[in-house]
Amino acid sequence: MTSVPVNTPLITDEDKQSVMDALNSNWISSSSPAIEEFEQAWASYCGRKFGIAVANGTAALELSVRALDIGPGDEVIIPNFTIISCASAVLLTGATPVIVDVKLEDMCIDVSKVEAAITAKTKAIMAVHIYGYAADMKAILDLARKYNLKVIEDAAEMHGGELEIETNSWKRAGSFGDISTFSFFVNKLISTGEGGMLLTDDLETANRLKLLRNLGFTTPRYLHSIQGFNYRMTGLQASLGVSQVSRMSKILQIKSNLYEKYMLGLSGLEKYIKLPIYPSWVKSSYWVFPIIVNEESDRDELVQYLNENGIETRNFFISMSEQPYLKGKFKEVGGLKNSQKLSKCGLYIPSGLGLFGTDQDIVINKVKSYFIDRHNI
Ligand SMILES: Cc1ncc(COP(=O)(O)O)c(C=O)c1O
Repeated sequence: MTSVPVNTPLITDEDKQSVMDALNSNWISSSSPAIEEFEQAWASYCGRKFGIAVANGTAALELSVRALDIGPGDEVIIPNFTIISCASAVLLTGATPVIVDVKLEDMCIDVSKVEAAITAKTKAIMAVHIYGYAADMKAILDLARKYNLKVIEDAAEMHGGELEIETNSWKRAGSFGDISTFSFFVNKLISTGEGGMLLTDDLETANRLKLLRNLGFTTPRYLHSIQGFNYRMTGLQASLGVSQVSRMSKILQIKSNLYEKYMLGLSGLEKYIKLPIYPSWVKSSYWVFPIIVNEESDRDELVQYLNENGIETRNFFISMSEQPYLKGKFKEVGGLKNSQKLSKCGLYIPSGLGLFGTDQDIVINKVKSYFIDRHNI
């Protein structure tokens, strides 16, 4: 039985009251006014004009590709090191994912390799912020402009994070893509249990996304001119989201405190593990605390040791090029060794918003004692 889960959510009394209010008012479905409230609150927090709430972050990615009219014969460039949702979103539209390696330092797409992957068929670049690191959106937008490509920004793991665009000029993650997407799964900074959202500044795109999310319903009702999907979010979920957006600065503070404490507690182990250090142009969301173990064998042994001591961990994503289901369905450009190394050597340790200080101490002590025992330090 795990005593320190990898993620413990933080649901406050205000969050509970917000959901109770939704229940008491019978506004529980996607017709609830809380949906628009949540969409507006999150769009405005991220500096965008329109928000479209959906059932989860995977649906958000799929709709982003569909709304940009990408389909059979088209290519979308994605990072090799990411969640399967990115590749699936592209494949579901009939387009081909083109996979590019990431950088070891920040785990995000290596923009210097993207240009070589662009062909006449390329329609979009999907940039993904990973584990609190930011994709270099400035460079990605430059390339997109040069080749007239669309940008999909997956900010599922970067709620509230910021990127410095010019000296002392910062923009929120989620404000860069033609369409930017979020997940509100239980382990995210804003969590509605399950949930997602797309942000855009383009009214036409926003309207198209709303149609796609809701079975293509227009007027007259039950007459459909496009194929849509039921990817709606419920009012109960939105009411939970609304209450959390209003305390986003507190949420970020908790995450940054957890980060600082881990950095302090695990200092001295740099010879064995790479701790997360974010570049000066990134204000991280500190989504999770990712570490990279030098040796592959160490990662699996460390995980086993922590698990045996009641500490749950999560291995890093397995890269897209290693997914049996994707075999033969993607194109790859350039080497993929960085993503493959991350998949083998990375893990994250408990870092949920509800992690108790005493539990964090236990994690720190156990990670340390593993290396002390194993390496006689
Ligand atoms: C980067 C990224 N994109 C997309 C998703 C998919 O979101 P969901 O689990 O809500 O479908 C996740 C999942 O956590 C994610 O980490």
